[in-house]
Amino acid sequence: MSSNFTKIYQESINNPEKFWKDASEDIFWFKKPTKILNKSNPPFYKWYEDGTTNTCYNALDLHIDQGKGAKTALIYDSPITGNKSKFTYEELRSKVSKFAGALKNQGVDKGDRVIIYMPMIPEAVVAMLACARIGAIHSVVFGGFASNELASRIDDSKAKLLVTASCGFEPGRTVEYKPLVDEAVKQAQHKISKMILFQRKGHEVKLNAPMEISWDEAHANAKDTDCVEMNSNEFAYILYTSGTTGTPKGIVRDIGGHIVALKWTMKNIYNISEDDIWWSASDIGWIVGHSYIVYAPLFKGCTTVLFEGKPVGTPDAGAFWKIISDYKVKSLFTAPTAFRAIKKEDPEGKFFSKYDLSKFESLFLAGERADPDTIKWAENLLKVPVIDHWWQTETSWAISSNCTGIEMMKTKYGSACKAVPGYDVKIIKSDQTLAKPNEMGDIVVKLPLPPGTFPTLWNADQRYKENYMSNYEGYYQTYDAGHIDEDGYIWIMSRTDDIINVAGHRLSTGAIEEVLSEHQSVAECAVLGVADKLKGQLPIGLIVLKAGVDKDNESISKECIQMVRDKIGPVAAFKVAIVIKRLPKTRSGKILRGTIRKIADNIEYKMPPTIDDPTILDEIKEDLIKNKILKSA
Ligand code: COA
Ligand code: AMP
Repeated sequence: MSSNFTKIYQESINNPEKFWKDASEDIFWFKKPTKILNKSNPPFYKWYEDGTTNTCYNALDLHIDQGKGAKTALIYDSPITGNKSKFTYEELRSKVSKFAGALKNQGVDKGDRVIIYMPMIPEAVVAMLACARIGAIHSVVFGGFASNELASRIDDSKAKLLVTASCGFEPGRTVEYKPLVDEAVKQAQHKISKMILFQRKGHEVKLNAPMEISWDEAHANAKDTDCVEMNSNEFAYILYTSGTTGTPKGIVRDIGGHIVALKWTMKNIYNISEDDIWWSASDIGWIVGHSYIVYAPLFKGCTTVLFEGKPVGTPDAGAFWKIISDYKVKSLFTAPTAFRAIKKEDPEGKFFSKYDLSKFESLFLAGERADPDTIKWAENLLKVPVIDHWWQTETSWAISSNCTGIEMMKTKYGSACKAVPGYDVKIIKSDQTLAKPNEMGDIVVKLPLPPGTFPTLWNADQRYKENYMSNYEGYYQTYDAGHIDEDGYIWIMSRTDDIINVAGHRLSTGAIEEVLSEHQSVAECAVLGVADKLKGQLPIGLIVLKAGVDKDNESISKECIQMVRDKIGPVAAFKVAIVIKRLPKTRSGKILRGTIRKIADNIEYKMPPTIDDPTILDEIKEDLIKNKILKSA
């Protein structure tokens, strides 16, 4: 007899239109869609194309209409500043509808792009929802990115307005946003017409009117503003993510499919109901933050926690337990690196014993591979299921997971469980044939992708098609490699492109190489992600100098490290640049990055038959030992 999960999964694959029509009944539509899926122009599929709705209406107004306006929508807790507050659905709508009016007063209209570069404060959520309310397309940029990255997003999105704050707080340092924004605005070719800045108490900065106005000034004369009716296929947001080059990809999200899919996931994947308290410890600048701090929990009508702090150091390794206990959190979603950080600081869980976690039911991990050691440590401590699930910015929700709201499945340590309803996941081998169980290959998803996934890239249909949909006809290429076992469990083993995952943050080694190549003494370079116990991976740079450079290597390394911090941002965590004599290459000139990575991670490697000079590998080994990346044998 097939299980409940298998039955639901099969329904979603055999008859996706019926499955997603049923799910769409759960959201508010101004006009219900009569066309569920348009497949006429692959790979550009359209979900709910004649439906009209509004993202903000589904996140706030719907619940108020249903009599739940007094329920807490958002809990803000900032151990870093000591501030805490709660907002009911009614209060949050009031703030959002006023800020929507403020945006309108500044000339922002349906379809205009608004960049949001803010720390983890309620005003950031208000700004996102206010854009959704008036049909503007937001693009949130993570605060750990430098001016250069912000400028490239301003240029690509051609944003009309930028919303920011005077500063963010990192443990031990204040991140002054204004100089970073000023530099980005200066660098960008496209000129924004207005900046709205939220002044954080005690950290007010000077503004240059009339182009720059404060959050409070923007509210003068702002009227409450209603939700506009949007076509389901118009865009809710753009979220830029690392591509294989320095040019980030603008992942876009359409409106109707996003609401339907995310609302569906709350119960089915996470087993969260309207009366539950949910917490995603991520940042609104990442996809996890978009989907699971802001949108999905609010679509569901439950309570979501916005946490401005870190797993350790704000003030201690008990910070997560305190939030769970104070607010009676049912489930937490974060990256494995956060748990590795807690485990490192408090391996015996001494802080844990101080708190009451009796309401806590499950922990979800994603963003990078969850190592079995960390999962087992968390299970032992928390005594709840710890669930590794796999997803990407491109999809906005999990491709594989234990769907705990449908049926709790057994854990296989190291696997991200089974494909979620909606995703027909396959493995394709290098000979282009479909893999049998346990055979490794590229992980692909059969088209069409379910609702809520990216319908295209911002202003780059061709790049979408070529990058993701062309290598395997009829499939979406995830750029992850792995296998599916005989029970249908998916094992994600590595990326097949140059993306690395540093503390759950997605980075392109190609983008870091582009920065290093700009250094006047650098002839060529290779950046690779090496295994790191805390952050999963860390980037290291190997640089070869131009002939005749007489500067000392240490100064050049320092300059390179600073350049990456200035151009990409502190989030790159780029702290190692090693000057070497030469890079190992194939006879045709391709740098053997895979082999160097294996050497750095101390993994056995085969001598590549095409290498131009095998002795270079020994040189590299010595350099890595000298720089403490590799221990001597
Ligand atoms: N604004 C500005 N700078 C930021 C920032 C932000 N929002 N977030 C991080 N940074 C900076 C940090 O201050 C640090 O700077 P430093 O080089 O001056 O120390 C740098 O970027 C690297 O940050 P991070 O990778 O976060 O490392 P960390 O050592 O500060 O903290 C962890 C390590 C594990 C505690 C931290 O990575 C963490 O909390 N991870 C949780 C995972 C997560 O949220 N993932 C998101 C996807 S689910
Ligand atoms: P992002 O778009 O930032 O969410 O990063 C997506 C990438 O992170 C995926 O393509 C994977 O390489 C990796 N990833 C996310 N979740 C997992 C997981 N549970 N296991 C292994 N890798 C993961």
